[in-house]
Parts: sequence; structure tokens; C-alpha cells
Amino acid sequence: MIMYRAMTRDDAAGVADVEEACFAIPWSRESFWKEADNPFAFYILAFDGEKVVGFIGCWITIDEAQITNVAVLPSYRNRGIGRGLLETMIREVQKKGVTAMTLEVRPSNAPALALYERFGFKTAGRRKKYYQDNGEDALIMWNTKLAETSPQGMGDVYGSNENHSKE
Ligand SMILES: CC(C)(COP(=O)(O)OP(=O)(O)OC[C@H]1O[C@@H](n2cnc3c(N)ncnc32)[C@H](O)[C@@H]1OP(=O)(O)O)[C@@H](O)C(=O)NCCC(=O)NCCS
Repeated sequence: MIMYRAMTRDDAAGVADVEEACFAIPWSRESFWKEADNPFAFYILAFDGEKVVGFIGCWITIDEAQITNVAVLPSYRNRGIGRGLLETMIREVQKKGVTAMTLEVRPSNAPALALYERFGFKTAGRRKKYYQDNGEDALIMWNTKLAETSPQGMGDVYGSNENHSKE
């Protein structure tokens, strides 16, 4: 069963392990310690037992949230954990009064695009040659109707979302 809860400082090493497994230019463990102390940052983690298997983070400025990163360990993908993370994040930021959310994504990242489109994100612009590793553009996506976006029956941040596993 996958459980979801907010990140604390003690989780930084586990989050950095997921980050390293998922990104070409990963953030360090120290970055996640700083994020845990950053009052504008909010992270939700997915756990299989004690192990961090995925996370999502955002920075909140008044009523807008910018997603910093979303990642699921390769061996845990395609089971709905990305969906569970985004659902939980949307529910939690809605409670904080956030009404719009934005993120950047590679046009080649089909799984991430599928995930964001499912939650009402739409492409609003493009940053040319944004990614340093291969010079790929970034798509800028927004959901400006977050208050009307249903987090689709997710449990609270300390609950589980086993109903969202893929058969
Ligand atoms: C993006 C990511 C977080 C998704 O995690 P996940 O747990 O596999 O996500 P889910 O199982 O909830 O599936 C997400 C959607 O992607 C779809 N998907 C999976 N692989 C796909 C592919 N190759 N092409 C198109 N869609 C795909 C799934 O069908 C699902 O869509 P649906 O809910 O409409 O059926 C994961 O792939 C990942 O960690 N990638 C590396 C890090 C990354 O790129 N992060 C995003 C940076 S912007």
C-alpha cells in the first residue's frame, strides 16, 4: 500500500535518492533540507513502507503554486503514484487558498504530459532551449481553474490511495 504525507527534514536523503534515480541533473540532499525549511515550499512524499518511492514539490506565492518537481522511482511507475501525488498536492494547496498552478515540462516527456493534462493543465508558452543537458525547450503549463479541479476522491495527505493503483 502506498502512503502519502508531507515532507519533513528527516526525509531529505530518501527524496534525494528518488531525485537522483529520475533526473539527469539532480538536486542534492542539501537542497531538500533547505526545501524542508523553506516556508514557501511544500512537498508530499509517497512511501512504500519506510521507503520514499516518489515525491512532488511546489513553491507557493499567495494564491499561485509552481511545481518544482515530480518524480516516481522507475520500478514504481505506471501504478498511479504520480497521479496520487498530484491529486494529494492539489487537495492540499486548495486548502491553502491556491487558485492557479504552473510548471515546466519537456515536450518529449509523454508520461508527465499525460499526468498534467489529466489534471487540467494546458500549455501556455514555451521557453526556448531551457534544459541544459540537451538544449530541449520547456513547455510552460498552467491550470488557472484549480478551485474547480477535482482531486478525484483522494485521501488526506496522511492517507493512502490504493484505490488509484492501476489494475
Ligand atoms: C512523470 C512521472 C512522475 C509519472 O509517474 P507515474 O507514477 O508513472 O504516473 P502514473 O502511473 O500516475 O501515470 C501517469 C500517466 O502517464 C501515462 N503514461 C505512462 N507512460 C506513458 C508513455 N510512455 N506515454 C504516454 N503516457 C504515458 C499513464 O498512462 C498515466 O496516464 P493516465 O492516468 O491518463 O492513464 C514518472 O514518469 C517520472 O518520475 N518520470 C521521471 C521524472 C519526470 O520526468 N518528472 C516530471 C518532470 S516535469
